[in-house]
Amino acid sequence: MKSAKTSRFNQPFLLRILHGVTGVSLIAAILTAYWTYDTYDGRWGRIPLPQFPEIEGIHGTFGLWTLLIFPVFLIYAVHRGQKRLVQANSLQQLAHIGHPSWWYTLNRWINTVTLALLTFALFSGKMMDEKWLPNGELQHSWYLAHLLSWLLMVGAIALHLVVNFKVGGALFLLSMWRWRHHRSESPYFWPSSIAQGWAAIQQGTWICWFQPLSGLMMMELSILISLAVAWILPYFKAD
Ligand code: HEM
Ligand code: HEM
Repeated sequence: MKSAKTSRFNQPFLLRILHGVTGVSLIAAILTAYWTYDTYDGRWGRIPLPQFPEIEGIHGTFGLWTLLIFPVFLIYAVHRGQKRLVQANSLQQLAHIGHPSWWYTLNRWINTVTLALLTFALFSGKMMDEKWLPNGELQHSWYLAHLLSWLLMVGAIALHLVVNFKVGGALFLLSMWRWRHHRSESPYFWPSSIAQGWAAIQQGTWICWFQPLSGLMMMELSILISLAVAWILPYFKAD
């Protein structure tokens, strides 16, 4: 039997893939976002990056990738990855500062809050108009909200890294970025797993996924609904 410590360093392969694709797209969106700000705005300081107007479209593309993969990661995190998110007693446990389990509780809170903050970044991104910055229109509320979402995301990821480092060290951080996986987790088996999942959906068993309806599932549903709204709203915007 694997020791608890060894299994903690063996993150499920599907989690590593979904977390990795979301993480890489998001970090690329964050870096290109900064360059976009540096090119068109710079009101709160600048670093001398080359002026590169095309960076806005490149940022939009990475943002879009994040938006496309995020719902899948979210569904995974809330169902199969549930133990890494807040639990029913997490609020009381957060009050036990200094208790050995406190850092684990804090870690779960940060993971959960990160999902909510990323929703805000993606939603406000969808509300952006690509013409605002080239036209020098820097006062739109959605633009300011989108800028704020960048700060919140950078803060959340920094905390995520610090707290994961605190609970598991560098090897734990790296365990999330390893490609090696058990044979039973190989993508070779994915088509048959998807077929089984689809058959289960057709038989209506998906209803059981939401029973009992937990707070996390309500968060999941609200995030999925807000992302759907974010896709639809721009079609109603007057030009
Ligand atoms: C940049 C490097 C990153 C590293 C090294 C890293 C590391 C980790 C580790 C080690 C875990 C597992 C925690 C556990 O088992 O308790 C984890 C989980 C998680 N990470 Fe990251 N992470 C990174 C980036 C990100 C980013 C950019 C996001 C933003 C979405 C993110 C969101 C999450 C979430 C939501 C979980 C919980 C997943 C679940 O419930 O299954 N991480 N991360
Ligand atoms: C965590 C940080 C950020 C994320 C995840 C993010 C994500 C997104 C997303 C999803 C879109 C919509 C893309 C589309 O509909 O095709 C977008 C658009 C946009 N974002 Fe961000 N963004 C972030 C930060 C920023 C910042 C700080 C700026 C400041 C300059 C910015 C500037 C823009 C602009 C100008 C657009 C419209 C461009 C376009 O649609 O091609 N973003 N962003």
